[in-house]
Amino acid sequence: MSSKTIIITGGAGFIGSHVVRRFVNNYPDYQIINLDKLTYAGNLENLRDIEHKPNYTFVKGDIVDAAFINGLFAAEKPDAIIHLAAESHVDRSITNPTEFVMTNVVGTVNLLNAAREAWKDDYSKYRFYHVSTDEVYGALGETGMFTEATKYDPHSPYSASKASSDHFVRAYHDTYKMDCVISNCSNNYGANHFPEKLIPLSINNIKNNKPIPIYGKGENVRDWLWVEDHARAIDVIFHNAKAGDTYNIGGHNEWKNIDLIRLLCKIMDKKLGREEGTSEKLITYVTDRAGHDLRYAIDSAKLQKELGWTPSLQFEEGLEKTVDWYLQNEEWLENVTSGEYMKYYENQYATR
Ligand code: NAD
Ligand code: TYD
Repeated sequence: MSSKTIIITGGAGFIGSHVVRRFVNNYPDYQIINLDKLTYAGNLENLRDIEHKPNYTFVKGDIVDAAFINGLFAAEKPDAIIHLAAESHVDRSITNPTEFVMTNVVGTVNLLNAAREAWKDDYSKYRFYHVSTDEVYGALGETGMFTEATKYDPHSPYSASKASSDHFVRAYHDTYKMDCVISNCSNNYGANHFPEKLIPLSINNIKNNKPIPIYGKGENVRDWLWVEDHARAIDVIFHNAKAGDTYNIGGHNEWKNIDLIRLLCKIMDKKLGREEGTSEKLITYVTDRAGHDLRYAIDSAKLQKELGWTPSLQFEEGLEKTVDWYLQNEEWLENVTSGEYMKYYENQYATR
């Protein structure tokens, strides 16, 4: 593998930290620059095990700041960018959509503009990889799956902002012939997941004997993928996709929220030495999320057939591994659930 400088944005977040670790460890000839603003969701503790490595650098910065981004591209002359930085939580997007437009849309366009200028000698030598979500496709009924050909139909301010950023990335490929690649992945779970999302929030609440808030009737379906399988898919796509290509990434692993939480309660009872059925009593149905998408399911046949990627973990095994990680990393959990996050938690659930 020849040497390269790669900027990974959002590398201090949940998925980004797994991508950074994988690239730093697997490609010692690559210089990996982690560009992150360190919002409430960014945490350098996630990368403590690799921060001393000679091929890793952290740069604190905001992708909304165009002058800063242009300067970084001019100084570092990256060969590629893997763009994960985003505001990522649907509930926060309902409360504050503008922040999502700024980071997810304007931030992405700033990166595209910086790349367009820095790489103009020959766009085919450089790659802009944009990491996106299946939520851009909208919601499914009881049947069917999202393919790469499914029309975009986002419903939440979060998914609308991600859809918009995807369109800009495609537009820069079509208009300027930049080498752009996009992947759209289903819900991730695993270590370092910020405890405002369903699985880590529920683990934290069960541990602390707090109510587990289930929106509506708990019948919404999500397709869960282990985060390290997503990081591996990003690696495979980054190295093998054709310019302008799109891949869906998913686990073929659909769960109704309520069934997932019941399984989680069972695992937690076992791990915490509680009598079976104890944690389920914490399940509390609360007011539904506005515009709550009923079902997501990803068809990742293209990725499997063309690039040979398949998910590695069964969900039960992955969920147990995830619970073990949270129980063994209490300090991480305490650090991220103090301060800013607790204020959000109180606002989010006070009136539900
Ligand atoms: P996250 O919220 O855990 O992390 C986001 C990271 O981006 C944080 O480190 C944060 O500090 C950084 N960031 C936010 N705003 C920034 C800014 N203006 N400038 C620089 N850095 C900024 O998110 P995640 O769950 O790891 O998601 C990463 C990417 O993957 C996002 O683009 C998201 O849309 C996409 N995605 C997530 C999922 C999922 O299940 N979590 C599924 C599919 C796709
Ligand atoms: P979440 O983890 O926020 O991911 P996304 O909205 O991107 O799919 O939510 C996963 C599912 O769990 C979604 O259907 C909303 C639901 N949910 C709850 O029922 N209670 C909660 O407290 C949260 C955060 C989510």
